[in-house]
Amino acid sequence: MSQPRVLSGIQPTNGSFHLGNYLGAVKQWVDLQKSHDAFYCVVDLHALTSSPDPKELRQNTLTSIAQLLALGIDPEQSTLFLQSQVAEHNQLGWIMECLTGFGEASRMTQFKDKSQKVGNDRIGVGVFTYPMLMAADILLYQADQVPVGEDQRQHIELTRDLATRFNSQYGKTFTIPQGYILKEGAKIYDLQDPTSKMSKSAESMSGLIEILDTPETNSKKIKSAITDTGREVHFDAAEKPGISNLLTIFSTLSGRSISDIEAEFVGKGYGDFKGAVAEVVVEYLRPVRTKTLELLDDPVHLNAILKAGAEKAEVVARKTVAEVYERIGLIARG
Ligand code: TYM
Repeated sequence: MSQPRVLSGIQPTNGSFHLGNYLGAVKQWVDLQKSHDAFYCVVDLHALTSSPDPKELRQNTLTSIAQLLALGIDPEQSTLFLQSQVAEHNQLGWIMECLTGFGEASRMTQFKDKSQKVGNDRIGVGVFTYPMLMAADILLYQADQVPVGEDQRQHIELTRDLATRFNSQYGKTFTIPQGYILKEGAKIYDLQDPTSKMSKSAESMSGLIEILDTPETNSKKIKSAITDTGREVHFDAAEKPGISNLLTIFSTLSGRSISDIEAEFVGKGYGDFKGAVAEVVVEYLRPVRTKTLELLDDPVHLNAILKAGAEKAEVVARKTVAEVYERIGLIARG
């Protein structure tokens, strides 16, 4: 029997991914590629919604690919590609837009939050249609599962609704995908504000651990993470959000259970604990940083991986678009 399929995407918004991106999503990508037919893309079209500088976008896109490879994505096992290099994403994106209600799209929380922040006159239409392009990313590949962090749950729900709607209107065409959202790591919090998710759009970078930052900077950030009142290293998301976040990071990176880590720090203070978390994070990321920088030195190799990935992705994407065009009444080119 053929393997189940996974698809996921990540924006190349910053030079570096952050620890939330890795623990919420990319770590699962690496695991799933062994047992699944895996498609992973850097969603450079989605990144355009924040109007990046062209030179930076190009550089950040290559850095994203290099990081995914350094974090363990194997281009022999996974199809790794750039969204913009497979034109079918836009083709299906438009069809998804035509299938979506205006009210439905207006209720998406990411759009609501951003439009509240910058105002309706200044927000781009791309931010509004963003979830429909994401639905197209997923449905093009007939993905069974979509490994993402908690903040993408609403997008996956919309994707499922659109696929179900299309199937009932035009006949069974799409696989209905499921979110693959782990309990531990699905939401990593800001180290300085452990009630908000770790995010590249945070006001201050001091609570953000970037994969490519120097070991010194990351160690310093972890050691100055906000902790809670009390002295006990104990997981309690409501009462001790700071310590609980650090425990999650420690546990997911070391593979040790939270209770095992709690036991190690009985009778010791927060200082000792943060020192240990800093060491685990820094040692985990050190080789990733080195490997990423090495890969970036060879853009020819990176481009060859992208070319092969786009060619493989295109075969699947074309087949889906052809079927969709047929179903909705567009005439195939003779
Ligand atoms: P993006 O680029 O913002 O984030 C990439 C992945 O990282 C996860 N993530 C987190 N997980 C845990 N804790 C956090 N603090 C944290 N911050 C981010 C995200 O949930 C995501 O899985 N819309 C998507 C990109 C996308 C996509 C797709 C994903 C476009 N097309 C198709 C899946 C399938 C996004 O902006 O992710």
